Amino acid sequence: MNLDHANTTVILGTVLCGLIAYFILYRLYFHPLAKFPGPKLAAFHIYEGYYDVVKKGQYIFEIGKMHQKYGPIVRIGPNEVHILDAEYYEVLYAQTNNKVDKYHWFYSMLGNPQATFPTINSDVHRLRRNTLAPFFSIAAVSKIEPQINLLVSRLADRMATCAKEDTVIPLFYAYRCMTVDMISEYAFGKQLGLLDRKDWGKSFYSAWRALWELSGIIRQIPVIMDIFDAMPRWVLQIVSPGALEVLDMKDATDAQMAAILDTDPKVYGERTYPTVMWEVAHSDILPPEEKTFRRLATDANSILAAGFETTGNVLTLMTYLVLQHNDIHERLKNELKDAIPDENAIPSWQVLEKLPLLSGIVKESFRMAVGAFSRLPRVNPKESVQYKHWTIPAGTAIGMSNLFISMSPDIFPSPTTFDPDRWGTPNSPERRRLERHLHPFGKGSRMCIAPNMAYAELYLTIATIVRRFPNLRIWETSERDMEYVHDYFAGMARHENNGLQVKIG
Ligand code: HEM
Repeated sequence: MNLDHANTTVILGTVLCGLIAYFILYRLYFHPLAKFPGPKLAAFHIYEGYYDVVKKGQYIFEIGKMHQKYGPIVRIGPNEVHILDAEYYEVLYAQTNNKVDKYHWFYSMLGNPQATFPTINSDVHRLRRNTLAPFFSIAAVSKIEPQINLLVSRLADRMATCAKEDTVIPLFYAYRCMTVDMISEYAFGKQLGLLDRKDWGKSFYSAWRALWELSGIIRQIPVIMDIFDAMPRWVLQIVSPGALEVLDMKDATDAQMAAILDTDPKVYGERTYPTVMWEVAHSDILPPEEKTFRRLATDANSILAAGFETTGNVLTLMTYLVLQHNDIHERLKNELKDAIPDENAIPSWQVLEKLPLLSGIVKESFRMAVGAFSRLPRVNPKESVQYKHWTIPAGTAIGMSNLFISMSPDIFPSPTTFDPDRWGTPNSPERRRLERHLHPFGKGSRMCIAPNMAYAELYLTIATIVRRFPNLRIWETSERDMEYVHDYFAGMARHENNGLQVKIG
């Protein structure tokens, strides 16, 4: 090595070390968020990575501990704070008049930026949401209600067959089969047919579960899925079987989307309800660049994900909680017997949601299922945001997890107790007071697009199942199987047993 070369290496090394030192010191001491409370290490994304990747979806629980130590606002990332203050939820999320974006770091987790759900920019989002929203109004959901009833009946018929054969029903999977078939029917015009699968759709769930489990690492290394995609499939099978399942699933939804675009519109014209992705592909609102195959297929995939696990999860928890509490189960059976004299004529979900106990059960199950455990961070790119005496600089990500509100003993005394009666009766003052703090669907311009569809599926399913199978009982399912121990956007239980299983009789 000659002297010039050695000098250059030393200079470059010194500059690099200086830059790294500057970067570290800046984040720790000179960054606008440096004065906010919180652990110093949270100034680096790797801190979140440790909890979410190494410890598997644990950062939200760590954030809970940070609040106990540092108070209602904490710095949880280099450019992100988290607030724990139920009264502030509306203020943060209902800033609909402001142009509030989603936080690109956080929402990179599923590697699908072209979908509506993780769209960052508020203007682009508005365009995409406006195209989808009409298909999820009350009137639109009423049009697909008969379809929901058909699927619930198919589920119930399969359960009746299991009863005759005295076999166990893996309800965790069974519910997800139904919600997948429903959303695929509505989005693609063709059911994925999970309810007919012998394995109750376990392989389908396993692919999605793999994606959610990868979400923490995708956030840390956004190109990782592209790297996996570029690998020969046999290599990927060795490196990451989960990623292989994810890519196969993406190929399958691509094929569904391609099939929609090839379908003669007359096929859809004869139906009493629309096919959402066909309508989006032919929307007058969207410019051509929003109607490329890639974007449509990505949105379709995301809608499938958004629509099936969430609803399946609440249904699973609700059924478990009802069956676990004999007194509530008995009262519900009586309420449904009176309201539904003929078990084959289930009233509309809008009628069912007026039943005092059933509606209290649904609210309480939503509270305990939480919806998104994750912190749903927003960014106001232009204006600073005030929280108490804290002025949070423009461009900072600010999030609030509904987990801490749903489980707040100040709002919901004994929050881990399943107590549908805390919700009083529909329209009672206590129900209205508590509803102000029930946010399973989020709030504001980015709140869930489909609460009506979710409510319709929940009410029709639980009413049918409880009314038709009075002898339904939990089978070999422990609290451990039900406990939410990971935050993969929604709270998820361990993926080791079958989850909720039931038997009839
Ligand atoms: C129990 C059922 C459901 C729960 C708890 C739930 C929860 C949520 C939450 C919390 C968000 C906001 C996410 C955020 O701020 O980042 C959201 C958004 C969304 N959900 Fe749901 N959801 C449910 C059912 C559904 C269904 C059935 C669909 C069917 C299509 C759906 C589609 C969407 C979409 C497209 C968005 C993105 C909306 C936007 O960004 O404008 N969800 N959901």
